[in-house]
Amino acid sequence: MGLNFEQARQVLERNRQAHVLRFWSRLDKAERGALLRQISEIDFKDVARMRKMLACKSATACVTPRPAPVMKWTRQTYAEAFKAGEALLRQGRVAVLLVAGGQGSRLGYDGPKGAFRIGPLSEMPLFYFHARKILRLTRAYGRPVPFYVMTSAVNDAATRACFAEHGYFGLNPADVIFFQQGVWPALDDAGRLILEEAGRIFVSPDGHGGTLTALAKNGCLDDMTARGIKSVFYFQVDNPLVEIAEPAFVGLHGLSRAEIALKLCRKNSPTEKMGAVAQMADGRYGLIEYSEMTPEQAAKFKYGSPAIHVFSLAFLKRESRKAMPLHLAHKKIAHVTADGRRVTPDEPNGYKFEKFIFDVLPDARNAVNLAFDRADEFSPVKNADGEDSPETCRRDLQAKWRRWLREAGVAVPDSVPVEIDPAYAGCAAELKRGLMMRDFVDEETRI
Ligand code: UTP
Repeated sequence: MGLNFEQARQVLERNRQAHVLRFWSRLDKAERGALLRQISEIDFKDVARMRKMLACKSATACVTPRPAPVMKWTRQTYAEAFKAGEALLRQGRVAVLLVAGGQGSRLGYDGPKGAFRIGPLSEMPLFYFHARKILRLTRAYGRPVPFYVMTSAVNDAATRACFAEHGYFGLNPADVIFFQQGVWPALDDAGRLILEEAGRIFVSPDGHGGTLTALAKNGCLDDMTARGIKSVFYFQVDNPLVEIAEPAFVGLHGLSRAEIALKLCRKNSPTEKMGAVAQMADGRYGLIEYSEMTPEQAAKFKYGSPAIHVFSLAFLKRESRKAMPLHLAHKKIAHVTADGRRVTPDEPNGYKFEKFIFDVLPDARNAVNLAFDRADEFSPVKNADGEDSPETCRRDLQAKWRRWLREAGVAVPDSVPVEIDPAYAGCAAELKRGLMMRDFVDEETRI
């Protein structure tokens, strides 16, 4: 329910934010309506938590730098887990959850990061590589694997348009569910909401941890329940090498009765910017962000988390009802000053707040960490160039496909670009079977 002027004034005054209405007399009818709507959408309990955090400026992450145990597959554990995961997929118990609401500021691409064209030959976007893997699963196991895509207010329309333009990459549109994450206001050094325009409060996406509230608010958790989902595979938009809902990983989550299963890989260097899973004194696990560790602490962790998880739906439901910890970042935020001038500051002037998905980890009654080989599954597109850029990602994608081709008995010189449609084959053995059934390879290299 929206607020009228008087109600908004009272709410703001109670929360010491009366300045938000200081330009009211200057606003036209539409601007007034939009501002009242914005005020009614802000949860002032969250703002109170933000103010409190600002007062002590402390992070809330766990600080025990003891690495949690990480399991490795044996032939037997893999076979058992694979069988269990296949059974879950065949029963239609598995959903896929992609967080794609980020702003992708480091890449600097004008559009949703998922629409960034990464295919070395096809020039298909990141979304294609994710969606086609899901298509392969639905074909292999004969059941839909619903695909929940979290967007933000900024990229929602463009994300939907990208899927529509490509015919949902072959997926059934009824099984692709877009939902928008929430936004949070920022605070200035004195704990006040920031006006980016005379009639608009500055807000930005509330972080990938916002996925829990957004799933609940948009009816996605109910939708998963109605579809009989038990396990939810979670991943980030920027890594086209990710093995989506790979049966052994999903099966491991089920067999170990874990509320979360996490995939971890060896870090490239002791201080690589990856979160690490620590075991706390009471035995529970917690994920520590790289920015919240000293270099000495970071160096204790050989493994890092690329945010590839399986959650049980029951756990997501439980967590969606809890307030998550806040993380804050000091940023430059363009704003309108008290005398009505618009200013783009040279120095950070405000605090943005975010929720991180991994903060649910300490609440998990049981969690399991699985080691994986990053050459096969992790090469994200984070930066415009250098490390973790489109160039390194395309290189790693092609190296993976070349390995598959070699194992399938096809030698392709390094100078020839290759690309394999993820709906066609999900591993070397599948590629080999496919090639044996066909006596040619399209255009020599694109399969
Ligand atoms: P990153 O931390 O890499 O952030 O997000 P980003 O926004 O993509 O890129 P930068 O930092 O601005 O350069 C990791 C994953 O979490 C999602 C992103 O879309 C990405 O898949 N994410 C991040 C959200 O869905 N919402 C957010 O508010 C933040």
